[in-house]
Amino acid sequence: MLLVCTVVGYLVGSIPFGLVITRAFGLGDLRQIGSGNIGATNVLRTGNKLAAFLTLICDVGKGAAAVLVARALLGEAAALVAGAATFAGHCYPLYLGFKGGKGVATFLGTAIALSWPVGLLTCAAWLLTALVTRISSLSALVAALLSPVFAMLFGLPTVAAAVGIMAVFIFLRHRANIARIRAGTEPKIGKKA
Ligand code: G3P
Repeated sequence: MLLVCTVVGYLVGSIPFGLVITRAFGLGDLRQIGSGNIGATNVLRTGNKLAAFLTLICDVGKGAAAVLVARALLGEAAALVAGAATFAGHCYPLYLGFKGGKGVATFLGTAIALSWPVGLLTCAAWLLTALVTRISSLSALVAALLSPVFAMLFGLPTVAAAVGIMAVFIFLRHRANIARIRAGTEPKIGKKA
């Protein structure tokens, strides 16, 4: 059954909502815009706030839905596996030749569904960093770093392990962003492409 969770979670996570939504709005191929990433931050660079909002909701939603459905049907272990598989699908999607996104929104959705206090604190860390710096990638890195710490503070070692593994991948997926942050060239949230 865990294999089913892995496969279904991965296939759901592979749905590139940012790409689908920008195309539906007639905004072109997201991979040719801004950072080329398929996430909501890059959709916002098209100037279409509704498309960016819908992308955010769908990418958060697929992570949360995978965890909640797997938990309801098969229990907590399945929820952890389904969440991680959905995150992996977003980062390495089958439908895009395994070239996907950075996983932040799906990570947040997964974290909220695994443990809502941990998820909400992780979102708060993202929001606070974004309010101070206006840099989406830096906010994601701070949130990813703190998420396993929050889980440990709540006495949830398995959740800490799951969000910790995802955090490692988030850092790996943000290598170019980290280089731009260090160079002082990372664009602020909402700056048009
Ligand atoms: O959620 C993705 C964000 O952390 C970075 O996106 O497009 O600025 O590389 P982007």
